[in-house]
Amino acid sequence: MSAQCKLVALGALIFFLLVSYGSCTRIVNFNASHITADPYWVAARATWYGAPTGAGPYDNGGACGFKNVNLPPFSAMTSCGNQPLFKDGKGCGSCYQIRCVNHPACSGNPETVMITDMNYYPVAKYHFDLSGTAFGAMAQPGRNNELRHAGIIDIQFRRVPCIYPGQTVTFHIEHGSNPNYLAVLVEFEDGDGDVVQVDIMEANSGWWTPMRESWGSIWRMDSKRRLQGPFSLRITNESGERLVAYQVIPANWAPNTYYRSNIQYEAFGSAAGQAIGFGSAVGLVISSAAGLHTVITGIIGLICLVLYHLHGIEVPQF
Ligand SMILES: *[C@@H]1O[C@H](CO)[C@@H](O)[C@H](O)[C@H]1NC(C)=O
Ligand SMILES: *[C@@H]1O[C@H](CO)[C@@H](O)[C@H](O)[C@H]1NC(C)=O
Repeated sequence: MSAQCKLVALGALIFFLLVSYGSCTRIVNFNASHITADPYWVAARATWYGAPTGAGPYDNGGACGFKNVNLPPFSAMTSCGNQPLFKDGKGCGSCYQIRCVNHPACSGNPETVMITDMNYYPVAKYHFDLSGTAFGAMAQPGRNNELRHAGIIDIQFRRVPCIYPGQTVTFHIEHGSNPNYLAVLVEFEDGDGDVVQVDIMEANSGWWTPMRESWGSIWRMDSKRRLQGPFSLRITNESGERLVAYQVIPANWAPNTYYRSNIQYEAFGSAAGQAIGFGSAVGLVISSAAGLHTVITGIIGLICLVLYHLHGIEVPQF
């Protein structure tokens, strides 16, 4: 290989190293606010109902069947959703960040609410009919009454993973259940916050039987013969991940009782998710810059090789 060619290759290498490191530096310094000002916020409208600082419905229940929604982990941060949010009950327990816009009392800070009820008379394509507590939470400090006074406000929302600290998936055997009819409320799933399928296995039967969605977050099993406990329950989340709560309902089960499992889905916090997304995007850019650099160096090497051969054969005296 000629000295000139080596020099050209070295020069090009240094040039491309500078270019690729230059672009990496630019990308690493890329303004993070472009990432957090993400495109996933969707416009919606919000109203509120029930007591001004209440949890929504008077009976504490709602169309999903959740109980004590004034207490943790719901803590009154609840909402009715119209059909695109309630999804015939499949949306029960899913979590959304909401923030209000266009009202002077708005803080603009995101608050997390859970879908616990159905909204039958939507005022917009996406309508959150919030508890008084959740509606007021979107206000600047001390101005929640002022915000509630507005009645209907513009908001933005986005789906976020649910996180129930310290909770595992919990099953509540509903009132009215008996050996021929079992109704189970499924609660506190991290991640999706809802399940798309529940299957049941009777004591040592060895096979799974799909349960039917009864209403809200309640799944039912009807049987002509007496169902034999203990029961194992298998749940499937929206991503299709299945978890088995082995013999979570004992043989001597009783209605109106909670049975806590030892299973839980993995939730990815939205902040962590964004950080992961951002990190891998940078990684991708860096590796593609490195890849590009390798390709270019390779091409230069190839040109040098061709030149060398050409020179070697046709132009002996370069
Ligand atoms: C990032 O963008 C925001 C708003 O556009 C700006 O105020 C801030 O100075 C920028 N930060 C950097 C490091 O460029
Ligand atoms: C479903 O469960 C899996 C396993 O825990 C989890 O990694 C995934 O994030 C869940 N899906 C959603 C959408 O939360």
